[in-house]
Amino acid sequence: MTDDRPFRFTIPIPSAVPSRVDHHIERRLSAMKGQFYDTQAYEAMLANEDLLLYEVYEIKRPEVAGELLMGISVVHPGKVGREFFMTKGHYHTVLDTAEIYYVLKGEGFMVMETPEGICAVEPLSPGQVLYVPPRWAHRSVCTSRREDLVTFFAYPGNAGHDYGTIEQKGFHKLVMEGPDGIEITDNPRWRA
Ligand code: PA5
Ligand code: NI
Repeated sequence: MTDDRPFRFTIPIPSAVPSRVDHHIERRLSAMKGQFYDTQAYEAMLANEDLLLYEVYEIKRPEVAGELLMGISVVHPGKVGREFFMTKGHYHTVLDTAEIYYVLKGEGFMVMETPEGICAVEPLSPGQVLYVPPRWAHRSVCTSRREDLVTFFAYPGNAGHDYGTIEQKGFHKLVMEGPDGIEITDNPRWRA
């Protein structure tokens, strides 16, 4: 079966954290300038504390085609204004490379889009696998109130990260807390 849209399935095994970590990345509020919709809330929070939003535990492998880069991503719970904590998000530099995520803990969404502006926002919960096909930018968002969103990921060694495109344009879709719960809304600030 082939499919060029994201899809999910379930592997019901218990949660796990890696017994091997080669590199630990911490991303704080200050690394996310311009990414959250409510810039006033962002500046006010940052003035108070440079909060830790997410962490990545990487298992290092050679960054070449044929290898797989793996690790665990941990997005902490919280919001900037009404918008849930999230990763920076990126395209792969080699656009034609995919990625796979397995959700170990927590609840959230993967926000995705292609350079042509096709969008997908897929829910994430423990036991689910999310396949991000080649050419789809991806950002994980934690919507748990108190729990981390913990995912295992793997992607081709030669993929690379293009953060610049998302830094400039943002994603088309935002994940916000609304009066009746979680809302997926259009990003009024998305730049063509
Ligand atoms: O490669 C990936 O897509 C993930 O490992 C991410 O790097 C991780 O979730 C952190 O997100 P970002 O790289 O957008 O800061
Ligand atoms: Ni990626």
